[in-house]
Amino acid sequence: MTQIFAHRGSSGMYPENTMRAFKEAEKTGCEGIELDVQRTKDGVLVVIHDEFVNRTTNGRGAVASLTLKEIKELDASYNKKTWFSHNRIPTLDEVFQWLQGNQLICNVELKNNKVRYRGMEEEVLQKIAAFKLDDRIILSSFNHQSIILLHELDPTASIAPIYSKKGVNPLLLATTTHACAVHANYRVMTQAQMESCQRAKVPVRLYTINQEPLLEQWMNMGVSGVITDFPERAMVVRNNL
Ligand code: G3P
Ligand code: CA
Repeated sequence: MTQIFAHRGSSGMYPENTMRAFKEAEKTGCEGIELDVQRTKDGVLVVIHDEFVNRTTNGRGAVASLTLKEIKELDASYNKKTWFSHNRIPTLDEVFQWLQGNQLICNVELKNNKVRYRGMEEEVLQKIAAFKLDDRIILSSFNHQSIILLHELDPTASIAPIYSKKGVNPLLLATTTHACAVHANYRVMTQAQMESCQRAKVPVRLYTINQEPLLEQWMNMGVSGVITDFPERAMVVRNNL
């Protein structure tokens, strides 16, 4: 069965990477959520996609130039063209604490491919251990050096490199990064590549699949996971297969 991950939470309907979006995703019955991690000026891991707060909040500036106090004053309620209100940027601790009360799998994407947050890999691994979430976290990153480092630091961690370029051999990428899965933009994945991963028992998860025909197509091909902005939609598609 294809697992369904809510991309930045239920971000198609609610403000991305907020507790609201994560809680709404849980209500759909999907298996997991995906979120993005950056680090504040004072060294706190926070859940936000961009390196800057400009797009998703009412503030301005780089996450790395703002303290947690400054970050927490922002309203992170932007959703596409709609403004909700009173949604804060969560810390990774806050999300992990919430995860302790449910059974969701959480795909933590380390956003360390543009800003190089030194020591982020160790910090994330320490938090996973502290919150005892070892068997429910999937770590991923576009930074494949970071993926290799994560494996060196914890060979038992569930780790997946992300890629979006055509021509990448996913099985080779998994092997060279010592990863147990790959996360790819669905546009660059071929059926043949996915089948070679299936034969090697390397799970393939594809992002960001939002349209019903595409969800149905990849689910019918047996993809391990889909990462979608609309988990409730993906649940309906899966139930009707
Ligand atoms: O992990 C898949 C996906 O989240 C990667 O792209 O830009 O949405 O973080 P992005
Ligand atoms: Ca992401």
